[in-house]
Amino acid sequence: MSVRRLAADAIQPRDFAFTPENQAWARTVIAKYPAGRQASAVIPLLWRAQEQHDYWLPKAAIEHVAGMLDMPNIRVLEVATFYTMFNLEPVGKHFIQLCGTTPCRLRGAEDIIKVCRERIGEQRHVTADGLFSWLEVECLGACCNAPMVQINNDYYEDLTPESFNKLLDDLAAGRPVKVGPQNGRRSSEPEGAVNTLTDPALFDGSLVGAWQKRFAEEEAKAKEAAAAKEAADRAEAAKAVENPEPAKPAPTQPALKAADTPAARVADGKEPIHPAEKAKAADATTRLTETVGVAPKTPPAVAATQPVLAPVSDEHKPELLAAPKDGKADDLELIWGVGPKLAELLHKLGVFHFSQIASWNELNLRWIDQNLGAFKGRAVRDKWIEQAAKLASGWRPEKSIGDKPQG
Ligand code: FES
Repeated sequence: MSVRRLAADAIQPRDFAFTPENQAWARTVIAKYPAGRQASAVIPLLWRAQEQHDYWLPKAAIEHVAGMLDMPNIRVLEVATFYTMFNLEPVGKHFIQLCGTTPCRLRGAEDIIKVCRERIGEQRHVTADGLFSWLEVECLGACCNAPMVQINNDYYEDLTPESFNKLLDDLAAGRPVKVGPQNGRRSSEPEGAVNTLTDPALFDGSLVGAWQKRFAEEEAKAKEAAAAKEAADRAEAAKAVENPEPAKPAPTQPALKAADTPAARVADGKEPIHPAEKAKAADATTRLTETVGVAPKTPPAVAATQPVLAPVSDEHKPELLAAPKDGKADDLELIWGVGPKLAELLHKLGVFHFSQIASWNELNLRWIDQNLGAFKGRAVRDKWIEQAAKLASGWRPEKSIGDKPQG
């Protein structure tokens, strides 16, 4: 296939000329191209010359085309020797181009080659009656119907040695032959019954945009599931608000146990013993009273299930706002345990921002806590300062009800 030479001089004709009809046709083809670009017509002219000359191109025809297109002979020879569709030596009346590429090989091309050898001889040999010659070529693009051959301008596919022999018999006898698949199937449809792409909806246009509809349905389902989960989480959180777990005494308040304080010891008359200590203890008593707002002699009773925190004075009231800064309050419901009612109460108190809460000290927190009415105890129990500090830093919980604080 790679070496393509002109036929032997002995069989080369002396000259070549187009028939008057082909000459007229050639002129119209050349006229399609702008002046100076006539060379673009080289392939159609060579093809017509080959058709006129029993499907092979003699040297004289190549030179004739070169003269018509004002091209050097070598340029036209390059084209004729490059493209395998140009036959450079005589071929049979039925010129068989047999595909020998992998798919056809795997499907039995070897057996078809064997038939060619037995009936015609080696490649490029023309039978004595001039009817047949054959050539192995590369893929002819009908791999779905392998093995196959091209005879002159037609494809014959799905061949077996038997069907190919019959085809050659019919051609030799001048009987009509059927082009295309030789096994009864239509085109490259599946052999036997059609068993794929049988749904009529595939062809009536009803599936246009179906993938978009499916994606929209899947998205709606996912949103529905997420909403249901969020509702369940909200219900759980609301339940927790209505039925709070018994709170443990706050571990950070041991100093509030009056009996353990210097003030209490002073009040009980146990300490101080030294007169100099007495003044210190009295001072401590005063400070404790101011700080926790409780007289050391009357410590609050500590219930088993509820932290009892002594009230703090208004001195520890945190800075409160008349309205949210920039007219927009933070979503206080992101604090775990704060629902719509509690958020509304906080707004009434003048609490609108995470940063506000994060800036409080423990006594500020307790002042707020003791002013939460029915929700009293929540601020300390749910560690609002800690939660608000996280939220003020930009962190956000996965759920819109906040994250339950640990411990
Ligand atoms: S491999 Fe034979 S037609 Fe493609």
